Amino acid sequence: MSQSTPHAPVTKAIFPVGGLGTRFLPATKAMPKEMLPVVDKPLIQYAVEEAQAAGIANQIFVTGRGKTTIEDHFDYSYELSHTLETKHKTDLLEMIRPLLPTPGQVAYTRQQIPMGLGHAVWCARELVGNQNAVAVLLADDLVMADTPCLKQMMQVYAEVGGNIVAVMEVPLEHTSRYGIIDPGVQDGRLIEVKGLVEKPRSNPPSRYAIIGRYILQPEIFEALDAQTKGTDGEIQLTDAMATLLGKQPFHAFLFDGKRFDCGNKIGFLEANVAFALNRQDLAADFREVLARYTG
Ligand code: G1P
Repeated sequence: MSQSTPHAPVTKAIFPVGGLGTRFLPATKAMPKEMLPVVDKPLIQYAVEEAQAAGIANQIFVTGRGKTTIEDHFDYSYELSHTLETKHKTDLLEMIRPLLPTPGQVAYTRQQIPMGLGHAVWCARELVGNQNAVAVLLADDLVMADTPCLKQMMQVYAEVGGNIVAVMEVPLEHTSRYGIIDPGVQDGRLIEVKGLVEKPRSNPPSRYAIIGRYILQPEIFEALDAQTKGTDGEIQLTDAMATLLGKQPFHAFLFDGKRFDCGNKIGFLEANVAFALNRQDLAADFREVLARYTG
């Protein structure tokens, strides 16, 4: 495997959105789970805005069947815009305008069969090209932070380059739900990665869990080419990342912020509460409503 430029520019973000979302049935029978709203914004929009805030303009969505509303969401809606213009609803027009990607800076490809996160990322290889480092964002992982999580990572990337995954400390009994790092030397929020294990059933090397934010060098695609199946019989991104260790810089980053697991109901509900309480236009009224249930 070739040694990459450790600071290859990160100009593209991959959003794997092919998952079936069975945990949210029946809501997700005909609607992508990534379109579930937290307060009034779909999960996928939070992820896209985070990539934009990190200065990444090109978006690659790895979709599947039944996901066309994601494309529609990030497209021009003539009827809606026309109606809002006619009614002089400029505030609402302003709200939907930033949803439009620059023409040509968004691409969609399909993961035809769900074969795991690594496979989904691999499906984007031709669209990424082999000169670019790439960011991967999992919309299920919603992060509330003063500085958006990926932007924090990009700031660190400017210093150390290589590969960077966002991590947080989880209770020991939750380590089997995540990719877990084997930590080396720690310098503040930055931890050298010595090993990576996807969803360890026992003896996790640490309690540092990877959340769905990655900056990866182009060689990740060579590693994914092997199509090796791992945990749960799926092609795991974690396994492909593990093959880069020792060949390129690889760090975990303890991001500053709170992550919500919107891939499960309780995490999703908590995100709605936290984001609503964080909204000036809703917080006071919502607090009153909550008090009726919790007081
Ligand atoms: C995926 C990754 C896992 C990571 C997690 C973060 O797992 O495979 O390494 O820790 O996302 O949310 P999934 O949640 O898709 O099972």
